[in-house]
Amino acid sequence: MRALKFRQYGGPEVLEWADAPDPHAGPGQIRIAVRAASVNPIDWKAYTGALSGGQPMAGTGYLGSDAAGVVDEVGEGVTGVSVGDDVFGRGQNTQAEYAVLDSWAAKPSSVDWAVAAAAGVAGETGERGLRLLDVKSGDTIFVDGGAGGVGAVAVQMAIARGARVIASSGEANLDYLREIGATPVRYGEGMVERVRAAAGGGVDGVFDTVGKAPVDDLISLAPDPSRVVTIANFAAGQAGARVTGGGADSQPMQAMALVADLLAQNKVVIKVQTFPFGRAADAYRISQGGHLRGKLVLVP
Ligand SMILES: NC(=O)c1ccc[n+]([C@@H]2O[C@H](COP(=O)([O-])OP(=O)(O)OC[C@H]3O[C@@H](n4cnc5c(N)ncnc54)[C@H](OP(=O)(O)O)[C@@H]3O)[C@@H](O)[C@H]2O)c1
Repeated sequence: MRALKFRQYGGPEVLEWADAPDPHAGPGQIRIAVRAASVNPIDWKAYTGALSGGQPMAGTGYLGSDAAGVVDEVGEGVTGVSVGDDVFGRGQNTQAEYAVLDSWAAKPSSVDWAVAAAAGVAGETGERGLRLLDVKSGDTIFVDGGAGGVGAVAVQMAIARGARVIASSGEANLDYLREIGATPVRYGEGMVERVRAAAGGGVDGVFDTVGKAPVDDLISLAPDPSRVVTIANFAAGQAGARVTGGGADSQPMQAMALVADLLAQNKVVIKVQTFPFGRAADAYRISQGGHLRGKLVLVP
């Protein structure tokens, strides 16, 4: 099969759509013939070497943490899914013709392949952040970075829980935030005051999806530091905010089922821009630019 791979660290130019070994479903996993796989910032953090701890590249790197496709292998112990089913979910090395998923849900027939692929990481991360914040109906929350992959899904999942959402973006995405149901505020200097003005005071919780705002600013908006959850500021724990990277905090199968349901009901709508796998470098240039509206998705 072919997969997106890199053999040295660098910019998007190191990416190759080229031959790779076939993966196979292990216990508890399924394999899919990939119809779409989304781009996540973790991918470019991998090929640029930002995650390497300064070590030189060893072996070949592969990319992708989510995808949608047709099941063609079912691993030992897996029930409730069969060869030929349309699914989406989270896995490893998904930017390939075949990929293994660890958590998945049936793709609603009304949902496009690219949208379903975009819902894996963003949906699980959104579900996790809102669950850790215990967002309830009637709460007011602030999502810092509401227009990006995780942010836009989190905004809509919070609204589906009955919360009122204030979210930040750059000037160009304020209308998009309105479109998905949030009260928009510009990020940058003065953001805390703008959130306070929009909320009529503080908020019940803050979901930081970007990691750029000073954590003390975000904490000043919340009833206490533990009501700030961040997925991108790993130093924020020192100030009492809650940092989550997945792992033990994650409930991926439940999250995928919830996201499938919200997609089917149009309660979560994901704006996607698609690129063929052979033009992945163009998608990654946009992702590395850091000003996304929704998700970038690669398709065969
Ligand atoms: N810990 C975890 O479990 C986990 C899981 C998934 C992702 N992540 C991390 O979370 C981050 C976001 O991921 P993503 O997929 O949502 O990224 P993304 O799709 O690239 O979105 C980035 C967003 O950040 C916004 N932004 C840029 N500068 C900002 C600022 N100063 N203040 C507020 N917002 C700003 C942009 O808004 P504008 O376009 O309006 O500028 C853009 O919409 C990445 O670092 C990723 O690696 C962590």
